[in-house]
Amino acid sequence: MDWQDLGEARTLAPGEHLVAGLPDYSVLVVNVDGTFHAVENLCPHDGGELGGGLIEGDRVTCPRHGACFNLRTGEVLKPPAFEDLLRFEVRVENGRLLVATQPKASD
Ligand code: FES
Repeated sequence: MDWQDLGEARTLAPGEHLVAGLPDYSVLVVNVDGTFHAVENLCPHDGGELGGGLIEGDRVTCPRHGACFNLRTGEVLKPPAFEDLLRFEVRVENGRLLVATQPKASD
C-alpha cells in the first residue's frame, strides 16, 4: 500500500482537520478525540467539498445541501446523500501523519 506524508501529526490537534490532495483523491483528515480518520472530501450527493462543511465531533455536514456523515465509519446519517463515504487508512509513524493513497476495501 502506498502512503502519503501529510506532515507532523502533532500539528493536527483534536477537533482540527485538513484537506489533502492525493494522486487520485482529495481526502478530509480529522482528529476526532485524538484518533485520526480520513474520508473522501467529496459528498456522494452532488460533489460538495466536505472540508468546507461543519465538523462537530465525529460528524461532518456537507456545506451544499446538509447531508451528514460519520467520520469514523463513513456512514451517511442524513439525506440527501444516500451513499457512504470512502475511507482511507491513517497512521502515525515517527511523528509523521500518513494516509493511504487508495481507499479501504469496504467492510
Ligand atoms: S452535495 Fe452534499 S448534500 Fe448535496
